[in-house]
Amino acid sequence: MAVSPVALRPRVLLLNASLAGDQGNTAVLLARARRLLARSATVDALTLADNPASFADLRPRLASAQGLLIGTGTHWDSWSSVLQDFLEQATPAEGTALWLGKPVACVVSEHSTGGKGVLSRLQGVLVTLGCFLPPMSGLVLSRAAVLAARHSPDPVAARDFWCADDLRVVCHNLAEAARITSSGTTGRPPRWRAWPVDRTDFAARWLDPAG
Ligand SMILES: Cc1cc2nc3c(=O)[nH]c(=O)nc-3n(C[C@H](O)[C@H](O)[C@H](O)COP(=O)(O)O)c2cc1C
Repeated sequence: MAVSPVALRPRVLLLNASLAGDQGNTAVLLARARRLLARSATVDALTLADNPASFADLRPRLASAQGLLIGTGTHWDSWSSVLQDFLEQATPAEGTALWLGKPVACVVSEHSTGGKGVLSRLQGVLVTLGCFLPPMSGLVLSRAAVLAARHSPDPVAARDFWCADDLRVVCHNLAEAARITSSGTTGRPPRWRAWPVDRTDFAARWLDPAG
């Protein structure tokens, strides 16, 4: 059977959800990811900060991507407000073909603490939206770990910290998952299912002011 060229070279979208847009640490990480992914995927990039486009405007680019890499900083133990806004706008698409089975990887940066909590919660949200998490597809890069690795008297001990080089694994696994889910390992794409999702009432007030 002929293998589709799309399956061999999936489209991956880099979603920069940094507060600092193209000037931040996330932009540096995503530029590196772009170089890594370009070997096996067609890469598109989107920066949310200061982007006047609505979710509806961005939707076609999300839809045409077979894989997504989301980058955010850590802000008071949370992801960026631009990512929160994006997720809120994405809510009506929960469980639809836009997300269902789409492989998503995440890179979170932080100064020192909170990033792993951000990553784990973000991955939980993405799975609930309907996304597919490839193995070892979430990375937290901390300034503390970068400094520790640079100045450690024991380089072997610092090797266990997440580092920018681990982005290779994240990008490889994302491209691999995008290739598999867009072609299917059994000759057809996977048939994911969604449970029933409330698409009309999810933002409604549910507390009665009268008590
Ligand atoms: C408002 C604000 C809050 C932050 N809160 C945290 C935090 O809770 N924990 C942490 O380790 N770093 C924190 N940082 C540092 C950023 O997470 C870190 O610099 C990150 O790389 C920023 O990514 P960006 O440059 O792509 O925006 C904070 C930075 C800002 C501007």
